[in-house]
Amino acid sequence: MHLLREGFHEKLFLLTDEQDRLIVRKQAKSAQQGTLAAEIVWLEELPATMRQYFPRVLHANRGDGDTHAPSYDMPYFDKEWVPLSELILLETCSRTVGQKLIAQVMRVMFSGIFPTTYPMEAASYPEQMIRLLERCAQQITAMPVFAPLMRTGKLSLNGVKQWNVFPLLEFLKSKGEAREALRPAAMRKVHGDLYPENVLVYLPSLRWRTPRVMLIDPVAAIGLTRGDFAMDVAKFRSWLSAELLALRLGFFSIETQWDNGPAFELSLHTDEPQLSALSDGKVLQEFSGLLATAPWARAVCDADPNWWARVSFYESLYALSMVPLVPAWQSMGRFLVGVHHLNNFVATLNVSPSSTGHQEAEHLRTVQSSNY
Ligand SMILES: Nc1ncnc2c1ncn2[C@@H]1O[C@H](COP(=O)(O)OP(=O)(O)O)[C@@H](O)[C@H]1O
Ligand SMILES: [Mg+2]
Repeated sequence: MHLLREGFHEKLFLLTDEQDRLIVRKQAKSAQQGTLAAEIVWLEELPATMRQYFPRVLHANRGDGDTHAPSYDMPYFDKEWVPLSELILLETCSRTVGQKLIAQVMRVMFSGIFPTTYPMEAASYPEQMIRLLERCAQQITAMPVFAPLMRTGKLSLNGVKQWNVFPLLEFLKSKGEAREALRPAAMRKVHGDLYPENVLVYLPSLRWRTPRVMLIDPVAAIGLTRGDFAMDVAKFRSWLSAELLALRLGFFSIETQWDNGPAFELSLHTDEPQLSALSDGKVLQEFSGLLATAPWARAVCDADPNWWARVSFYESLYALSMVPLVPAWQSMGRFLVGVHHLNNFVATLNVSPSSTGHQEAEHLRTVQSSNY
């Protein structure tokens, strides 16, 4: 058994079974790490027709939440399987093939995964989202570098005033209409960490009409496995827009001023050569077009006309949830991106914090036009 990869919360080991087949064991680093146990349940609950698109759980050890860390075994995907992210970024395949692969991933989700719904769990979903956001805000406040900033009500981002996280949280909590905007038409099975790095593509199938994809690594750090399909769209989008990579790879700069309240100039350097496959925005554009036109997407999207607005909320939630987890040099970038998306979400509502008793009369819609 040897270490294949060490991630943030898990280790991957390569080993052989009794028949000498290579298998991968994914093991949580700590017994308290709940997301791997959730990942195992998620995979084991897959509808039978969908199993071919996800790693098969050969053997699972769910852990005891105390001293034994959870782990599971799955088949090893050899060199013929390549991450979709690599194919896109290195332009190993044409744009057309790239789009075909993205479409195949989304088709699997929209026609095979999202239709599994959990009607009993829908009632408190908006409150659950608000609690998650609040937990992120509290964790960020507990970071000494963020404490003074979190106490301010507003900040300026690229010359545009933005509400800070706590006033927006208060607004979402106090205003029923705003809270309801977070409610999806149905509670669905969602992947939770859907983006091209978590998709393996079988190289020999690139030319097939329906290429073979393997969607791995469900459940992100925030731990959601059921809820809103817009969450999976948001994560995928944040990668295709190059925003996530610019943050992770350090392709951004931030200038800060505190003269007149906190003011930040954030620029994401999405024109870096490493991101050139994404920097003209065409891949993202085609992704949006796909969701607007593909028949398999329409069935889910048309039943939920407000879904697009919620994408901003999840882009924010993902960004803010990462602030305490990423290296210190990344945390402010993640925070500002999170604030930006949260303001965008609130700007899509018919009510705004300024019209609900907040002192400042400034209208929030102005933030809609803001850019990095
Ligand atoms: N069963 C597997 N066979 C081959 N490579 C794998 C397997 N599982 C994961 N990997 C590789 O390891 C990477 C990290 O695994 P992943 O399950 O996504 O964990 P993490 O939570 O660290 O992202 C994947 O992107 C993939 O390239
Ligand atoms: Mg992964």
